[in-house]
This record gives sequence, structure tokens and C-alpha cells, in this order.
Amino acid sequence: MVNEPKPDEVNSNSTALTVKNLSKIYDSAAGKVVALDNINFAVKKGEFVSIVGPSGSGKSTLLNMIGALDRPTSGNVYINDVDIFSLNDSDIATMRNNLIGFIFQSFNLINRTTVLKNVKLPGTISGMSASEANERAMRILEALGIADKATQKPVNLSGGQQQRVAIARSLVNNPAIVLADEPTGNLDTKTGEDVFDMLKTLSHKFKRTIIMVTHNPELAESTDRSILIRDGRIDKDVIN
Ligand SMILES: Nc1ncnc2c1ncn2[C@@H]1O[C@H](COP(=O)(O)OP(=O)(O)OP(=O)(O)O)[C@@H](O)[C@H]1O
Ligand SMILES: [Mg+2]
Repeated sequence: MVNEPKPDEVNSNSTALTVKNLSKIYDSAAGKVVALDNINFAVKKGEFVSIVGPSGSGKSTLLNMIGALDRPTSGNVYINDVDIFSLNDSDIATMRNNLIGFIFQSFNLINRTTVLKNVKLPGTISGMSASEANERAMRILEALGIADKATQKPVNLSGGQQQRVAIARSLVNNPAIVLADEPTGNLDTKTGEDVFDMLKTLSHKFKRTIIMVTHNPELAESTDRSILIRDGRIDKDVIN
């Protein structure tokens, strides 16, 4: 990957993520939509940040930009001091697979293959040997309490178990940042709390950097810090 010159403010090895003057304007048939309007913030390594705000305020757009699933209209995102949008599409894909773990509301697992293969996949893509990918995947599945489901198809698991598989998959490459877009949104209250507790454990015990979008105020308050987005701008940024 390209080694970009590092501006002073992002040249800190305790910073996992810096978002700088980030804007996203969608040009749709209905006209221009300003989804993100000059967003600025930084996240420390090991911090557990929640993103909250009304529907349509830009939360998913922000997460998609941080995860380089889409390019911003203007602005920069630095992950581990790499200016990710200075990379070409192929390097972005490699960076995304190696540095970012994704967890989605709808799990996004591949249902025609096994739990183990789902969890191994990012490792396989990044060039891990089959035995290393197997070992890592099994170790994470064990830590998350679902190793006994390794040979099953995700579709045969409960929602909470499927989300744990998705969490396991997000961790297999030891990512710099885990991004979760309403990870408890499709789960009942109790299961959602269990999944959230798992993320909290990852954050506090294993010092993972996690950014989670949630509509649940109680869960948001249990994270280290909450960023409130309104109309594509940061309205509040509070330490909990
Ligand atoms: N691909 C797209 N094309 C055009 N407009 C879009 C696109 N994606 C999102 N938008 C618009 O951008 C704005 C922000 O959408 P976004 O999905 O980021 O909101 P959100 O905060 O995640 O909402 P929710 O809580 O409902 O998930 C909305 O007005 C939405 O309609
Ligand atoms: Mg959303």
C-alpha cells in the first residue's frame, strides 16, 4: 500500500481513525441530497464509539465512507494514518479486507456454505494459509461460544447466533477498526443485549476499536462515547 505523507494531527499511533472535512452528496433523480456535511472527528485506538441520530441523518453513509464501501464527495478518512481515498480501487479493496471488520444489521452471511467457511473467508482473501485461517476462525468461534455450530449453515442458526458468526468473521483478520451498523436492530431485546455485551467485551478486554450505529439509547450510553448526527452534521459528541 502507498505510504502517504502524514499531516501532524493524524500522525499519532494512538489514533485509529481520523475523519476530516468529510462530505457526501448523492445525486439522485429527485435531486441532490447532502447526506454528510463536513464531518470531523478522531477515534482513539481501543475506543468504543456509538453513532446515533434520526433516520436519514447520515449514519450509514458515514459508516460506509469510513469502511470505504463508497467514496466521499470531498474530505479524507485516515485509518492507521493511511489516507484511504488516496488509494486506487484495488488497494482500497485490500485495505478494507485487512483493516476493517464489518457487522451489519442483517448479518450478511453466505447461507450456502458453513459457519466456519464464512468466518474464514476474509482470512483466505488476505492470503492466510488454509490451516492458519481454520485455526484462527475456530479460536474466535470458541471465544464467542459458537464453535459447536462451525459445520452448520448460518440459515439454521438463531439471529443472535448468526450475528455472533458475523462478529467472528469481522475479527478474523485482526482489523484496526470494527464497524457495526445497527448490529442489534434485527434481534429481540435480550439477544441484542447479549450481542452488545460481546462487542463491549471485545472493546474492553481485547482493546478493539469499534464504531457502532444504534437506535437504542441505552446501548449508546453504555459505549465510551456517543456522536449524534443530525442532517449530516455532528450535533453532539459526548463521553459517556
Ligand atoms: N445511494 C443513495 N442515493 C441517494 N440518496 C441516498 C443514498 N443513500 C442514502 N441516501 C440519502 O442520504 C441520507 C442519509 O441516509 P443514511 O442511510 O446514511 O441515513 P441513516 O442515518 O443511516 O438512516 P437510518 O437510521 O434510517 O438507517 C438520506 O436522506 C438518504 O435518503
Ligand atoms: Mg442506516
